[in-house]
Amino acid sequence: MKRKYCILMFGLPLFLLACGNNNNTIKTEAPNQSSSANVTASAIFTAKCALCHDLQRDKIGPALAGATSRWGNDNVKLKSFIRNSQQVIGGGDAYASTLYQKWHSSVMPSFPDLTDEELNLLVDYIK
Ligand code: HEC
Repeated sequence: MKRKYCILMFGLPLFLLACGNNNNTIKTEAPNQSSSANVTASAIFTAKCALCHDLQRDKIGPALAGATSRWGNDNVKLKSFIRNSQQVIGGGDAYASTLYQKWHSSVMPSFPDLTDEELNLLVDYIK
C-alpha cells in the first residue's frame, strides 16, 4: 500500500504536468481543475479498481458505467459500498445483496483509506 502511494505522490505530479501543458494549448478556457480531476480519478481507478472493473465491459466485477443510476443516484450509499461493500450488503441493502449474489458472492475488497474527495472523484468518473 505504501509503495502505491509513493508512485501516486511522485508519478502523479509529473503526469499532471505533462498533460496540463497540452490542455492549456488546446482548450483555452477549459477549467483546468476538471481536467486534472479527471486525470486523478483515472489514476485512482487504474491503481485500485481496474483489476476487476472496466467502465464498459464486465470483468471480475461488473461494468461500472451507469452505476450511479443503478444506485438510484444515491451517491452516499454508493460511496459507502465502494469503501466497504460487505458492510452495505450485510446491512440488508436489497440491490447490493442481489448484485453480490449475481456475481457469485465474489467479495469486492474494502477501501477504508479512500478519502471522501477521492470517492467523489471516482463516482463522478464512473457516473
Ligand atoms: C477484487 C476485485 C474488485 C476490485 C479491486 C474492485 N471491485 Fe468493485 N466490485 C467487484 C465485484 C465482484 C462486484 C459485484 C458486487 C459484489 O460482489 O460485491 C463489484 C461491484 C462494484 C460496484 C457496483 C456496480 C453496480 O453495477 O452497481 C461499484 C460501483 C464498484 N464495484 C466500484 C469499485 C471501485 C470504485 C473500485 C476501486 C476503488 C472497485 N470497485 C474495486 C470487484 C472488485
